Amino acid sequence: MNLFDVYPLNNIEIQKAAGSTVWDADGQEYLDLYGGHAVISIGHTHPHYVKRLTDQLNKVGFYSNSVVIPLQSELAEKLGKVSGKFEYQLFLCNSGAEANENAFKLASFYNNRKKIIAFKGAFHGRTSLAVSATDNPKIIAPVNETDNVVFLPLNDVSALEEAFIAYGNEISSVIIEGIQGVGGIKEASIEFLQKIRSLCDEYNAVYIADSVQCGYGRTGLFYSHDYAGVDADVYTMAKGMGNGFPIAGISIAPKFEPWYGMLGTTFGGNHLACSAGMAVLEVMEQDNLMQNAADIGEYLITELRKIEGVLEVRGRGLMIGIELPETLAHVKKALLFKHHIFTGEAKPNVIRLLPALNLSKEQADQFLENFKIAIKG
Ligand SMILES: Cc1ncc(COP(=O)(O)O)c(C=O)c1O
Repeated sequence: MNLFDVYPLNNIEIQKAAGSTVWDADGQEYLDLYGGHAVISIGHTHPHYVKRLTDQLNKVGFYSNSVVIPLQSELAEKLGKVSGKFEYQLFLCNSGAEANENAFKLASFYNNRKKIIAFKGAFHGRTSLAVSATDNPKIIAPVNETDNVVFLPLNDVSALEEAFIAYGNEISSVIIEGIQGVGGIKEASIEFLQKIRSLCDEYNAVYIADSVQCGYGRTGLFYSHDYAGVDADVYTMAKGMGNGFPIAGISIAPKFEPWYGMLGTTFGGNHLACSAGMAVLEVMEQDNLMQNAADIGEYLITELRKIEGVLEVRGRGLMIGIELPETLAHVKKALLFKHHIFTGEAKPNVIRLLPALNLSKEQADQFLENFKIAIKG
């Protein structure tokens, strides 16, 4: 049997990893500023993480949501504390798309409406409704097509106001990334997020903050939407939550009341997933990783802005986009194959940095030095 060939691959096999360093099958060392797509939050093979997962696996790895799993409540308590949303409720699932899918469903159950407002450049996942709210027609199959999603330009307050005037009481939810990831590190403005909050209040629509990529401490605050100083009704999260173990969740405001069967999953919230989630939050707290993300991120952004040839540097904390001109389109590949540094990308010419939150100043400098050389070419 062959693999279903949907990924364009770099011909590199990673065999060992520690912190922000990975090694390939030939023993070649790489600096990892991609974190497997913003997933590695506390660093590869962190000793506390490995121990917690190993200990749990030796006790019980999985049982279904038909029994009490105290680790789920421990995780909810800790997440409430670290995120500052003490009163919110946690539903656990397995992936970012699933988190968004559940958020849409919850919103629709809540206000009994169907329309969703999403934004140009958005990526919310590949399941049916999540992909329909994703601004990429190529990955929306005919069966996923729906008239329920309306796309508006990002940060256009008047367009948002007009949409609420036009659709008002039909709007179930508004979904927005605090910083668009796949869209090229484009930040939602504070004014815009505040406007979403006030319009959702006025029309009883649900504000969904997609924090799958930009959340979990990456920008220096737990949710990047928090920079606007207003709460969302639902936060969706995944990537950094389990440092590589598949776990996702939605943090749900107190006004939503659950009923048995409203949401559900087989794997979500299993013992191993919760142990991974706990280990991540424990390390984030102990090592003050949100502060480190803010500090090293600010340092990187400041230094990158000084480099000649770079068109624009966008982002916050350790979610950084470096926009390059077409003439420097080769830099990303050069970083990987010549300088042995993993980075992410966004089309057409944006290099995305999504490293572990404990990236050190020395590692940031190592990247800057190599990046300057790669740009000179
Ligand atoms: C903002 C955002 N939302 C949702 C998703 C979907 O997450 P998953 O691939 O875990 O389904 C992604 C994945 O890249 C994302 O960046």
